[in-house]
Amino acid sequence: MHWSSLTALALVAPSHALIRFGCSQLVVDRIDPLVNPGVAPSPHLHQIIGGNSLKPLMKPIEHDLPSLSTCTTCQPADDFSNYWTATLYFRSRNGTYKRVPQKGNAGFEGQHGGMTVYYMQNQLADYQQKAKVKAFQPGFRMLIGSPMAGTKAEADKYPQLTYTCLQDMNTRFPESKNFPVKPCPAGIMVNLRFPTCWDGVNLDSPDHISHMSYPSSGTFESQGPCPASHPVRVPQLMYEVIFETGTFNNKADWPADGSQPFVWSFGDGTGYGNHGDYVFGWKDDSLQKIMDEECYVNCKSMKTQSIAAMNSCTVPNAVNENVGDSDWIEMLPGVPHSKLKA
Ligand SMILES: *[C@@H]1O[C@H](CO)[C@@H](O)[C@H](O)[C@H]1NC(C)=O
Repeated sequence: MHWSSLTALALVAPSHALIRFGCSQLVVDRIDPLVNPGVAPSPHLHQIIGGNSLKPLMKPIEHDLPSLSTCTTCQPADDFSNYWTATLYFRSRNGTYKRVPQKGNAGFEGQHGGMTVYYMQNQLADYQQKAKVKAFQPGFRMLIGSPMAGTKAEADKYPQLTYTCLQDMNTRFPESKNFPVKPCPAGIMVNLRFPTCWDGVNLDSPDHISHMSYPSSGTFESQGPCPASHPVRVPQLMYEVIFETGTFNNKADWPADGSQPFVWSFGDGTGYGNHGDYVFGWKDDSLQKIMDEECYVNCKSMKTQSIAAMNSCTVPNAVNENVGDSDWIEMLPGVPHSKLKA
């Protein structure tokens, strides 16, 4: 091999890991163990993935996800974390709703619903992953975004929560803060990137956000420094949730006034209320070990399981109700019409 190719190889060799994996649906249920612990039904419906120790009440530390779970819907066999977002609905011209199903990313076609999860030390396109991060600790949890955000200014407080209108499964830009305004042939992808600076002390905070921070200047992508108040750099957790809107793309079924028909399960038709939740549950120090490996996506220290095993892990619903999977429903589960945001 010519020396210049060797040099090129040495330059692109990763210093630390970036991992990307699929997770099937664990359950679609009206629970929220982070924001409404012990409450069933919670105010709105969620789609949840990860370890099967999931319950409406999961007290930090006491509820040890890796030891209480017997399976996980995620590809890494040691990841018993729970990850969730709201669900998406299509609103018909007569005001009834049907839930929009999810599908896996390209390359994860066999998985049932769910989403794709990333842990990154530098931005996705950076093959070197030079930054060093501290993995999350047992009992750690957080959320990002707010279902109360109803304007672009409110949504802009969370810079990395966006939508991609998929022309095909490989579309990755542009991203928008609001729901796409036109039909998206291959679906709507929701992108959620969590903040990357931790206060180093608190596993959670009353609003589930303030123990975390964005960099004090610049961005995660530009490797901006963490603020003194939140000095510990943690992996950037990212979700890609693909809603299969294809069967709802007939313009004749869309609102006559030209607006778009999709609405979050908490009644938001703008998209600005995009939010996601995380409860850490990797076994022992498995996540730190993986993050310290020199690898990009294909990481040897990440033990994986088959898609069939991921799909076979489920939990029963805590709340049994018609969520509009096959019938048209009159009202979003738990959300009166008066709470709808256009
Ligand atoms: C409402 O619209 C849906 C979708 O077009 C249709 O299937 C359903 O029958 C309608 N329901 C009523 C009560 O008109």
